[in-house]
Amino acid sequence: MSGLYLNKAVPNTYQYFPLNEPEIGAAQKPEDDQNLLLFKPLTIRDVVFKNRIFVSPMCQYSSDNGHATDWHFVHIGGFATRGVGAICMEATSVVPEGRISPQDAGLWTDTQIEPLKRIVNFAHAQGSKIGVQLAHAGRKASMHAPWVQSKAGSDARAFADENEDGWPSRVYGPSEIPYSSRYPKPNPLTEQELLDLEEAFSAAIERCKKAGFDFIEIHGAHGYLFHSFLSPLSNNRADQFGGQSLENRLRFLLRVVKRCRAACDRPLFVRISASDWAEFPEKDESGVWKQWGIEQSSILVGKLKELGVDLVDCSSGGNWREQNIPVVPGYQVPFAEALKKAHPDMPVGAVGLITEPVQAESILKNGQADIVFLGRELLRNPHWPIMAAQKLNVKVKPANQYERAWY
Ligand SMILES: Cc1cc2nc3c(=O)[nH]c(=O)nc-3n(C[C@H](O)[C@H](O)[C@H](O)COP(=O)(O)O)c2cc1C
Repeated sequence: MSGLYLNKAVPNTYQYFPLNEPEIGAAQKPEDDQNLLLFKPLTIRDVVFKNRIFVSPMCQYSSDNGHATDWHFVHIGGFATRGVGAICMEATSVVPEGRISPQDAGLWTDTQIEPLKRIVNFAHAQGSKIGVQLAHAGRKASMHAPWVQSKAGSDARAFADENEDGWPSRVYGPSEIPYSSRYPKPNPLTEQELLDLEEAFSAAIERCKKAGFDFIEIHGAHGYLFHSFLSPLSNNRADQFGGQSLENRLRFLLRVVKRCRAACDRPLFVRISASDWAEFPEKDESGVWKQWGIEQSSILVGKLKELGVDLVDCSSGGNWREQNIPVVPGYQVPFAEALKKAHPDMPVGAVGLITEPVQAESILKNGQADIVFLGRELLRNPHWPIMAAQKLNVKVKPANQYERAWY
């Protein structure tokens, strides 16, 4: 045996890590990433995503006064070592009262940058792209973590009171309409407060840049602040930010997106709910909007495109407590497909019960979406990308350290 056989290091990083060639989660033979869309890289602005399997943002209700902890390091680090194309970190509030629960993540102050930067640096050293979802929970803020709520029972109030670290009297929304009787009655935001929130999103973007995130997602879905402004079910304001006028209901989100786009030199995504799933049509015979739906979503996506948004992450629901969602595999994919049809040059992400490799690949092959976000399936099985490659008969690189488990 001649020559030197070194355990090569990842260059220019903060510790020794074995170098993966190709990167973890990349196809080992170049032709494979052409035949299979799931492992075909995608470039957005100058960011190259090595495959199209993205970790959907998932709250962990585990932050220490808005600061990421070692839980997040291990949880997110686990995805970075298992070959996903990108990780979108959980809903991260731009102000303290915009957290869903008292233990939610935040980026409202500079001390919250450092623990995130540590996670980002580790993800980068493993060749993983990582972003964060910036959020404000609006009228669904100050909630108990789900496992606390389930202990309290379905008849109890869902929100955390002052003596449970909550802030029910400082919960805000477009109008005084609570999400349900178990939720606090929101204080309608004044126009000045909306401007302050624009500022808070912009400041959080600067902190994202310092943490080193590759992309940023604005959370416009699931009944949180932006979605509650979009929907006629939750917004009956009489000013330029609400009421029956669609233009008015879009205004707040579009202003914030415009501001974020100006502050953000990297890919900017927006997650929307494409439907409220209420039991009546999106608009009545006389053209009066009754709930948020795909027709308005499509108009919104056109405007997001004009503002320079790079990807729409298409979810649904969360704003109408009586929503009736047929939760079947890929139940939200038809919404992504409709948006893609209406805006073929806008990259779209599909999410929601995407669990099978063949299913994920066919969503991409059929042109229904450009990437897939996986949530719970990746919690159950963080190795999903390598397992999916095996099922689809391609060889994808596992981490050097885990290779013996696969090949
Ligand atoms: C534990 C958990 C936390 C979640 N937190 C968020 C979140 O922070 N932001 C968000 O937009 N969606 C959140 N979601 C929704 C997921 O991102 C995803 O859209 C949803 O679970 C459907 O996808 P799945 O069937 O692949 O899990 C969460 C879901 C779970 C299970």
